[in-house]
Parts: sequence; structure tokens; C-alpha cells
Amino acid sequence: MSDHILIERAGEAGEINIIRFNRPEKKNAITRAMYAAMAKALVDGDADDTVRVHVMLGTPGAFSSGNDMQDFMAVAMGAEKGTEVLDFLGALAGVKKPVVSGVDGLAIGVGATIHLHCDMTFATPESRFHTPFVDLALVPEAASSLLVPLAIGHQRAFALLAAGIPFSGEEAERAGLIFKTVPAAELEPTVLATATGLAQKPPKALALARRLIKPDTEQVMARMREEADLFAKQLKSAEALAAFQAFMARKK
Ligand code: COA
Repeated sequence: MSDHILIERAGEAGEINIIRFNRPEKKNAITRAMYAAMAKALVDGDADDTVRVHVMLGTPGAFSSGNDMQDFMAVAMGAEKGTEVLDFLGALAGVKKPVVSGVDGLAIGVGATIHLHCDMTFATPESRFHTPFVDLALVPEAASSLLVPLAIGHQRAFALLAAGIPFSGEEAERAGLIFKTVPAAELEPTVLATATGLAQKPPKALALARRLIKPDTEQVMARMREEADLFAKQLKSAEALAAFQAFMARKK
């Protein structure tokens, strides 16, 4: 298990499965090992009868800066992509128990789209939800092309996903992309109190309500696969390689 992802069971009986990014020196950029660790934590937590709720958290100032750019560049230059990203997204989209997330600061790329699969997301007002897919010559992923327009309408979805305009936590709340903003000092206590409250609900009724509320999982997975095919093609494009190289060279 990667120590860049910390897994912890909280609550009186260990009913809260906390998945926490722990790579602050890279703004919690996500490597293949980290995706694999998160997928396993979700699958294990779903299979464990003690667990009632999953929680996803970052570190102060960064939930996640998205996919690791070195990994992107390696694929752009011909390396094997692996299945970790899709395995993780599939596990997240298919998870049976509620997911509560907390964001302080950066939520970029998949660090933003993860929350589309969460049930309640809290963020600090100054957080930054940013999906610069097109600027990196990529396309939206994680079924965001389906879920974001459903959540916030076409024009705001286009602004976020295609024009790459960042949304603050406050704008994300106003648009309906996340549940609520809270001050930084209250973020983790609020997330954990919300998870504790959900863990006390009748689990079968909660699971049924959640299934009824959420979009059809098969439709979500189908869109994810469609996006992933286009994403993989774009990753190998000359325009994407140029964008990754520009990121790597930006401090020189
Ligand atoms: N992948 C790999 N490393 C990343 C990263 C990413 N997605 N995001 C940040 N880092 C690394 C930086 O390279 C830097 O490492 P270094 O100290 O060894 O040079 C460190 O994290 C801190 O980032 P830095 O850029 O110095 O901080 P910043 O506050 O100026 O900017 C970001 C932070 C996140 C805005 C900027 O790093 C960025 O734009 N990252 C890329 C985000 C992205 O496009 N993700 C993919 C979306 S599809």
C-alpha cells in the first residue's frame, strides 16, 4: 500500500473508512500506485460490514493536483498506461456506501472530478476546482462530461470542462457542484460529523435511497469508457506532449 495514501478507520466501531491523500510536497498529485491504493481501500471498505461510510480528504491547501504529470508524460512518450486510473474510477463510481469528501485548496483534474461521485462534498470557500483538460490537449474524464452538465447545466459545465475556467469553492457551491463551503478549521470536523450522522442511518434504506438518487451506474461507466478511449488517444498526441513538456519546463 502506498504511503502517499493513508487509510484509517474512524468512529466508535470503525464505521468510517477514511482515504486521505498524503503527498503534499507534490500537491497530492496522483500516481498509479496511489490510484491502486484508493481502489483497494474502496473495495475493501465496501466489503467490510463494519464500514458504513467512505470519506475522502486531502491535506491543507491541496485536495489533489490531479494525475501525476510525470506519469502523463511517460505515457505520451510511449510507456504503458496501465489500468489503475480506470480501476479506481470504476471502483468509485460503483461503490455501494455513501462517500463524503472534504476539499481545502487545489482540486485539479481528477482531483475535481472525484467529487462528482461523492454524495456530499464540503470545501473551503477559497478552494479551486479546475479542470484544464483541453489546455493539456486532453478531454474530460471520470464521466464528468455526463455528470457536470447534469449537476450545473451546459454553460457552466462548458466553462469548467472545456474553457478550463476555475471555480472557487464558493462558486462551486453556488453552481451546485458541491454541497457546502465551510471555513478551513471546520472542514474535517464537518466531514467527519456528516459521515458519523450517515453511519447512524438505517443502512439498507440509505443504500436504496442513494441508488435511486444517483444516475444509472451502467450509463456512467459507459461514458467513462468512451471518454477514456478519447483520452488515451489524446495522451499520445503531439499537442499533449508539448503541454506536458511545458509544465515540466515552467520553472527553468
Ligand atoms: N503532477 C506532478 N507533480 C505535480 C503536479 C502534478 N499534477 N502538480 C504539482 N506538482 C508538483 C510540482 O511539480 C512541484 O514539484 P517540485 O517542487 O519538485 O518542482 C510541486 O508539486 C509543487 O507544485 P508547484 O507548481 O511548485 O506549486 P504551485 O503552487 O506554484 O502550483 C499547481 C500548484 C497545482 C497549480 C501547479 O503545480 C499545476 O498546475 N500543476 C499541474 C496540475 C494539472 O494540470 N494536473 C492535471 C490535470 S488533468
